[in-house]
Amino acid sequence: MSLPKVYITRPVPSAAVERIAARYDVKMRPEDAPLDPAQLAESCREVEGLVATGARVVEEVIAQAPRLRVVANVGVGYDNIDVAACTRRGIPVTNTPDVLTETTADLAFVLLMAAPRRLVECDRYVREGKWQYSKWEMLWGTDIYGKTLGVYGLGRIGKAVAGRARGFSMRVLYHDVVRPAPALEQELGVQFVGRETLLREADYLTLHVPLTPETHHLIGARELALLKPTAFLINAARGKCVDEAALVEALESKRLAGAGLDVFENEPHVHPALLNMPNVVLAPHVGSATAQTRLAMAMLAAENLLAALDGRRPPNLVNPEIYASASSQ
Ligand code: 8YV
Repeated sequence: MSLPKVYITRPVPSAAVERIAARYDVKMRPEDAPLDPAQLAESCREVEGLVATGARVVEEVIAQAPRLRVVANVGVGYDNIDVAACTRRGIPVTNTPDVLTETTADLAFVLLMAAPRRLVECDRYVREGKWQYSKWEMLWGTDIYGKTLGVYGLGRIGKAVAGRARGFSMRVLYHDVVRPAPALEQELGVQFVGRETLLREADYLTLHVPLTPETHHLIGARELALLKPTAFLINAARGKCVDEAALVEALESKRLAGAGLDVFENEPHVHPALLNMPNVVLAPHVGSATAQTRLAMAMLAAENLLAALDGRRPPNLVNPEIYASASSQ
């Protein structure tokens, strides 16, 4: 009897592949490159399990995969997956929270520090042999220590960034749609404020919200106008949460001091104006990119996949309603 088929959209660490291959017939795409929905649909016709590493799993893919029983995303954000279409088919969708929290918070903090201290410019200055002697006014930056951090979205990653800020004696304000218990606020050393206060008071505004219809262009021209002209915007969440054209406009007109960006509106395309701005530090969506974390993400995705294929509820289910509707029938 042939084993049920599992498809993995990009190379992932072999430990994760072996874990699945012990029980299923695994095919892993060898190219570490994007996959368009038509190609993905072609590869999923016979599969029961799909491990998606950044691939767009749209309705057309799901419709052409009649045997599909689970979509295991390697990533905490799952805006690449049409969850509603999966739910309609009763297909569990899973993600990989927790294992990437600290690594992503590290990267957000790297951007938060690199932009105001002009680290990329400093590096270039030294490499290009411009450091002939030290000048009094050489590469002056902006302080981080003691400033106000505005955390937009106090989920797992937002909390981890807030924790780092404490080590820099920062005053941490946050805004979120849900407010944790006051005891937790106290423990984290954070203060809840309204959206507008957050924008007006932050010296550093860092985004940690998922991409949903509500957070699309969460930061646009109106919000950018509320920020201090000395403020920096940090985005290691999702590019579409920021109106990139409005951000460019704010930076060009000096209504914003700088930015640290790991994500972009239309990745891998970056607004050309950003490429020429020395006060903007750019990274190619590497928030979770360390060997240790990527291994943990792949292993967790494998666990989620195996649970669903075994008929168990996967530990990191994003559409629990598929089970609720089954039990109410
Ligand atoms: C990427 C991420 O998705 O977890 C997320 O939400 O943005 C990243 O970890 C990852 O590169 C895709 O596999």
